[in-house]
Amino acid sequence: MIHPVILCGGSGTRLWPLSRKDFPKQFTRLLGEDSLFQACAQRFRGAGFAPPLVLSNADFRFMALEQLGDLGIEQATVMLEPSARNTAPAVLAAALQLEAQGAGDELMLVAPSDHVIRDVPAFLAAIAAGEAAAQGGALVTFGIRPDRAETGYGYLELADAAACAAAAAAPVTRFVEKPDATTAEAMLAEGRFLWNAGIFLFRVADIIAAFETHAPDMLAPCRAAVAEAKPDLGFLRLDADAWDSVPEDSLDYAIMEKAAEVAAVPLECGWSDLGAWDAVWREMTPDEAGVSTSGSVTQIDCTDTLLRSEEDGPRLVGVNLKGIAAIAMRDAVLVADMTDLQAVKAAVTQMKA
Ligand code: GDD
Ligand code: MG
Repeated sequence: MIHPVILCGGSGTRLWPLSRKDFPKQFTRLLGEDSLFQACAQRFRGAGFAPPLVLSNADFRFMALEQLGDLGIEQATVMLEPSARNTAPAVLAAALQLEAQGAGDELMLVAPSDHVIRDVPAFLAAIAAGEAAAQGGALVTFGIRPDRAETGYGYLELADAAACAAAAAAPVTRFVEKPDATTAEAMLAEGRFLWNAGIFLFRVADIIAAFETHAPDMLAPCRAAVAEAKPDLGFLRLDADAWDSVPEDSLDYAIMEKAAEVAAVPLECGWSDLGAWDAVWREMTPDEAGVSTSGSVTQIDCTDTLLRSEEDGPRLVGVNLKGIAAIAMRDAVLVADMTDLQAVKAAVTQMKA
């Protein structure tokens, strides 16, 4: 039995104006009928998976519960983080909760809720291929064949190119989280690096032991926050006093870069992290001129352009645009160069100030 642990506490700033502080991207309908969070939860409904443990920021609790309810997923436990402390504390809290439920020897699968996965059977096959290594004590990650020197991902070094293409777990000799551009270029050229998909499989007891070794200062306050967690209107609320003293860090920096026994299963399943609008543009399958549109949009002579008018948004018209992303909402419009969409985060920070 694998315990899915769904992470949905991120803020998705780079997808402003659709993604907002109170309604982050994982709960929006970016592509199709289901939200990304719902698509994630749907993947684990089959045999072999326990009901999911959902880790969410307290602010998003009603969205998470309502979207699970719409799918008829009634058995989920939704654990609430009183404040956002990044993914390491969230994963540790999930592991401690599972340990308390008597699942210390069982496997947990950490699943971020901001991905697209086109081929779910291939994804489930990769998880199955990682089970033996995880049972054997490895922290298993899933690796995507890189096609550009992306600096927003983690990189996994494998022994050689063959290991990067096999349908089996292989040892990771180095884990490099979010490298600078020069390092990323060099790793891409080497041909034996995969991107970290951000999905992890390990035994509950093994990840707790890894925190004991590599992030011992997280353990005591996190244990206290889980031990003192209170049921609250169908949620399980972590104790705020204890939680607020847990150091902030991502699982990648706190554990994965340091852990001794890491293995990776290459994953070919149409994976995409919808980090910024150019990724959404790519996932919407642009026409021959490279144009993707949705909502109430008219365009003439545009190339390599994304035009979206979101629900209740105004009519959006693009004429002879090249390499532009324009997202119109009722109360806000983004117009940006397609090559500069990471900067949306800085724009949001500036607006807050
Ligand atoms: N519950 C909870 N609490 N979830 C969180 C929190 C938090 O404080 N912070 C982030 N998350 C969720 C996000 O909603 C997302 O689903 C997931 O955890 C990953 O967080 P991101 O902030 O999106 O991470 P990233 O994209 O920068 O990097 C990770 O993913 C990459 C692939 O998409 C890393 O694992 C990289 O190594 C990896 O390449
Ligand atoms: Mg992400």
